[in-house]
Amino acid sequence: MKKAKIFTVTSVSGGTGKTTTLLNLAATYAVNGKRVLIIDMDLASGDVAARLNVDFDKDIYHCYEDITNHTFDKIENYLYSYVEGIDVLPAPKDPRDAGKIDPSFLAFLLSKVTLKYDVILVDSNQLLTKTNLVMFDYSDKILYVINNESMNLKGLRTMTAIFEDMESNKMRIVLNEARNPHRGLYSITDIKNITKTNIDYIIPKSFYIKNIDKMVLNGDVILLSDRRRKKYKVANRVFEKMAVALLKED
Ligand SMILES: Nc1ncnc2c1ncn2[C@@H]1O[C@H](COP(=O)(O)OP(=O)(O)O)[C@@H](O)[C@H]1O
Ligand SMILES: [Mg+2]
Repeated sequence: MKKAKIFTVTSVSGGTGKTTTLLNLAATYAVNGKRVLIIDMDLASGDVAARLNVDFDKDIYHCYEDITNHTFDKIENYLYSYVEGIDVLPAPKDPRDAGKIDPSFLAFLLSKVTLKYDVILVDSNQLLTKTNLVMFDYSDKILYVINNESMNLKGLRTMTAIFEDMESNKMRIVLNEARNPHRGLYSITDIKNITKTNIDYIIPKSFYIKNIDKMVLNGDVILLSDRRRKKYKVANRVFEKMAVALLKED
């Protein structure tokens, strides 16, 4: 049986557009007939289920608790469908539960889902917590979403050096130009010089969504709609390319 590829989305600074990128990548896979599971590992402030208007009772903390207490029955009890092809394992509803989760349960959790999906997309945050580090280990690729800002670039240089030191080839860089389209201090050449790494994907300024709050309110994802895939043609092509390339690489 085929095992799902695991891609974790992270960053070196907060609020760079990780969740937005992850949701549109999930949409791109789903539109192409892939079965996607989103695991929300931004444990203390995860908002995937809220962003998608997915109602839930049980979250990743309940899953952890049940596995630890040997009261775990089946993984489906913690998974919620957003649309055909996209399921969600929500982050803790109560943020106080975030710190109680020990990453040792992740191996068991992943063993319950990798055969049911083609792609597992893990949302995370910029912190090098124990849970994030363990998840990085299990990931086939780690996508760093950065903005065109000095602190992002300096932080990325540090992470690039760490990945080099570990001789890891898992890091992929997504430059999100759509979040602050009016800023963009540096050219791509500058960015490569500062970060000492290649930029793998650039989400163009044209993907800036003026009424993103309305999208969030409606629990909507841009690239799920045919009309919007045409409207944001250039960005859609970037997501399509990213989706295919990530699956192809070993
Ligand atoms: N393509 C975009 N167009 C407009 N605003 C965006 C876009 N991507 C991100 N944002 C803005 O940046 C904020 C943070 O995005 P989000 O994806 O939640 O980042 P993170 O998950 O890294 O915290 C959003 O609330 C939104 O206001
Ligand atoms: Mg987020």
